[in-house]
Amino acid sequence: MEKIFEKDLHQWLEHVRIYANNGKVADYIPALANQQPEINAVAYYPIGDEVMKAGQFEYTFTLQSISKVLTLALALVQHGEKAVFSRVGKEPSSDPFYSVAKLEVNTPAKPFNPMINAGALAVTNMIRGRDSEEMVEEILKLVRLLTDDPSITYDEEVAKSEFETAFLNRALCYFMKQHGIITGSVEELLDVYTKQCAININVQKLARIAAVFANDGRDPDTNNPLIPLHVARICKTFMVTCGMYDASGTFAINVGIPAKSGVSGAIMGVLKKNGGIAVFGPALDKKGNSVVGMQLLEKLAEEKRWSMF
Ligand code: DON
Repeated sequence: MEKIFEKDLHQWLEHVRIYANNGKVADYIPALANQQPEINAVAYYPIGDEVMKAGQFEYTFTLQSISKVLTLALALVQHGEKAVFSRVGKEPSSDPFYSVAKLEVNTPAKPFNPMINAGALAVTNMIRGRDSEEMVEEILKLVRLLTDDPSITYDEEVAKSEFETAFLNRALCYFMKQHGIITGSVEELLDVYTKQCAININVQKLARIAAVFANDGRDPDTNNPLIPLHVARICKTFMVTCGMYDASGTFAINVGIPAKSGVSGAIMGVLKKNGGIAVFGPALDKKGNSVVGMQLLEKLAEEKRWSMF
């Protein structure tokens, strides 16, 4: 495992930017379809050192599925492992992230893991709060803590756009409600979920979140505990087994670090005891992962021997 320098980030981005042509910006959430496929950025946040960045690093995008790691951490802190895993499983599904298929073939209709949409919806359903507004505040509080940025909030347009078109996610919710996996109002749950997915961030802040996981749940600058060690460990394990959806196996072979992607085109990666990396490029491959992000992380693994295996 070799040291990473800012010049590496510039070089890698320069080398992989062309791959954006091989992907397509997500358009099933109408507000995401406006993203420019040629935009890209990368940031590396070493534990106890200065952040390094390249590309359009000030560009902001939404967390989308990356938020699932954070709501999982929050639910585990609030309710403990036993309660959380009574509602969601621990196994990879090998299905696309939006799939409904496995809910029907298993009894009880417990989603396979917290990284697919069904599992993430079940986890968000557990977040404490008297109403959706308080639940969203709880999630924002955690993201603000991990990014050390009290101004973090969600993009109302993206949240609204997803809320108005999330028919498949509603279907997953109603299915799980029928089977007692989720409780309460599906519309309120969708309100929270679409807002958590629409949380606005840039690569520097996202790399800081990854650095907290790299530092076993501790602040990468002050070393203060932010997430309990065992919770950080569970989250990282899910990132390895399910973080890149049905491409997680290939990613583990080609890159070999805990990582989580989102359909906005972001990926966060965890370099154990070293730091966090975040890549953004909105053009996606068929499985919903950023093509530029995947290529850049492959370069990192190849050139710096960063696979954990
Ligand atoms: O629920 C959805 O479909 C989106 N808000 C998030 C999906 C996602 O990011 C999958 N990622 N690759």
